Amino acid sequence: MSHPEPIPTVRAVGPEEAGALAAFADRLFHETYAPTCRAEDVIAYRTANFTVEELGRELRDPRGIVLLVEVGGALAGYAQLRLGPPPPGVEVEAGQAAVEIARFYVDAPWHGRGVAQAMMRAVRDAAVEHRAGALWLTVWEHNPRAQAFYRKLGFRVVGAQTFVMGEDVQHDHVMTRGVDPLP
Ligand SMILES: CC(C)(COP(=O)(O)OP(=O)(O)OC[C@H]1O[C@@H](n2cnc3c(N)ncnc32)[C@H](O)[C@@H]1OP(=O)(O)O)[C@@H](O)C(=O)NCCC(=O)NCCS
Repeated sequence: MSHPEPIPTVRAVGPEEAGALAAFADRLFHETYAPTCRAEDVIAYRTANFTVEELGRELRDPRGIVLLVEVGGALAGYAQLRLGPPPPGVEVEAGQAAVEIARFYVDAPWHGRGVAQAMMRAVRDAAVEHRAGALWLTVWEHNPRAQAFYRKLGFRVVGAQTFVMGEDVQHDHVMTRGVDPLP
């Protein structure tokens, strides 16, 4: 008899969880970029960004929201959001904010199993709750799986930005969608 997939649950993370989030975010960043980027660049980014102090600061920022997905009580992914003005190409109504999806990571055993969709639904719900008019993100030009996932959920490319990882200046696409329900 086959067992049904456990259901992912999503909740907001508070500053008291900075330690657990830092360790999880650091591991997922390493696993995502170590296969394709220079080790020195990956380490430089990790050292600067995934300390308990830095994550604690980000979690105390009132413009920031971090959503954590768990499956069967184990960490399965996280999305880090920032509320703010939209960049060029991202459309909102006058006076509305946009939600930047600054980080969106699902642990590898859960890729292709609907966890990322559940997390994006929670991101969209958070945007509606905060009266934001659009979601937007940047994705590396050499990350075709993430781009395919975002396109599938209605995001489209509206611009370009650079992302500095160590000494590597990477080219990212800017993608956006409205806050209408996900497909
Ligand atoms: C990006 C991410 C959240 C997507 O979640 P996911 O569960 O893997 O997404 P899905 O499997 O539902 O969708 C990915 C799609 O890309 C396709 N795909 C897989 N590998 C691909 C490749 N190399 N090139 C193009 N498409 C690819 C899949 O077939 C799937 O499309 P389908 O559903 O039509 O078959 C997840 O892969 C992840 O966390 N990756 C590591 C972190 C990361 O890159 N984050 C994004 C930072 S911007």
